[in-house]
Amino acid sequence: MADAAERVPDAGVLAEEIFDGLRAAMEVFAVDVGVRRGLYEALASHGSMTARELSRTAGVHARYAREWLEQQAVAGVLAVSGPPSGDDVYERRFALPAEHARVLVDRDDPLFLGTGPQFVVSIAGVLPELLEAFGTGAGVPYERYGRGTREGIAGLNRPLYRPETVRSWVAALPDVHGRLAGGPGGRVLDLGCGLGWSTIALARAFPAARLTGIDLDDASVEQARRNAREAGLGERVSFVRTDAAGVRGGGSVDLVTVFEALHDMADPVGALVSVRRLLSPSGAVLVADEKVSEEFTAPGPELDRVNYAFSVLHCLPATRAEGARVEAGTVLRPDMVRGYARGAGYGTVEVLDIEHDLWRFYRISP
Ligand SMILES: C[S@@+](CC[C@H](N)C(=O)[O-])C[C@H]1O[C@@H](n2cnc3c(N)ncnc32)[C@H](O)[C@@H]1O
Repeated sequence: MADAAERVPDAGVLAEEIFDGLRAAMEVFAVDVGVRRGLYEALASHGSMTARELSRTAGVHARYAREWLEQQAVAGVLAVSGPPSGDDVYERRFALPAEHARVLVDRDDPLFLGTGPQFVVSIAGVLPELLEAFGTGAGVPYERYGRGTREGIAGLNRPLYRPETVRSWVAALPDVHGRLAGGPGGRVLDLGCGLGWSTIALARAFPAARLTGIDLDDASVEQARRNAREAGLGERVSFVRTDAAGVRGGGSVDLVTVFEALHDMADPVGALVSVRRLLSPSGAVLVADEKVSEEFTAPGPELDRVNYAFSVLHCLPATRAEGARVEAGTVLRPDMVRGYARGAGYGTVEVLDIEHDLWRFYRISP
């Protein structure tokens, strides 16, 4: 942070940074091509390949296969051996090192980022609408960002939702953990559940608990249902398409979780109010949201930069399309969470001592 604060305006430095950004952006698009055309998967399962072999295996044109393979090797993603130039460059062999396959192919690896590029690329698809919205102040609905955003976010977060990991997060609320882990198992609501990976992980972590995932996006809820069915979780897990601010129902809930979704809700106070009515007196809300600076900091650290960029291009416009009342944007600071909780009539907000590179965790109690 000190580095950022000490930064002196310099045209050369900014030009270099933007040029680096252009390169990184173009390389991210090329990674997306590799993921979505199954090129990394082909390389991971066949070992080293020539352009023609990749072309046959993955069903892509040989000239494109060659250019992509060379680009990936130059970018340091693939290893290469064979003629440096002149001879038949189609004889070069390219391989995906096992360590890189963890990042690009293995969806369960904690370092998997293969679907992340889709999220960035999906923003390009709504850019004309976004430019228009900047003028009119309108929003860009979440569903307009499409599958790339839905699956991109879900794919980025899925490796974070291992049963043992989510169990350790809930263990930071020992009383709630005790109720979920013991006897009848308790009840959990997972707000803004997306494709349901957090709900599924919670169900695996607490085999006697009943869970309901809630999300405003139709396509996400349908996919979450399919994912839970495929995970064989049966009746214990269900999904409801509704605004978190309009959650109804009887019974008492032991835990409400909101993983990287509170900042996306147009009415976070309304969402907290609606679940407070369902929470048992000893229940709690566990929020995980961006680990940004506690105060506006400019120039800011890396995490603030990435979250602000997503805010401008995705979260703020998507929230405005919901009919925003609060318009948090992605940069949700602890004081904002405290303000929402107070506004919703909760008694306490505690920042939890959970180690995480990207998120800050809060316990909100009635
Ligand atoms: C960044 S995504 C996170 C999804 C999921 N928790 C995960 O970690 O993969 C935010 C989610 O919040 C959902 N969302 C936004 N506004 C909502 C609202 N008012 N009520 C319920 N869900 C909402 C979006 O549809 C989206 O699925």
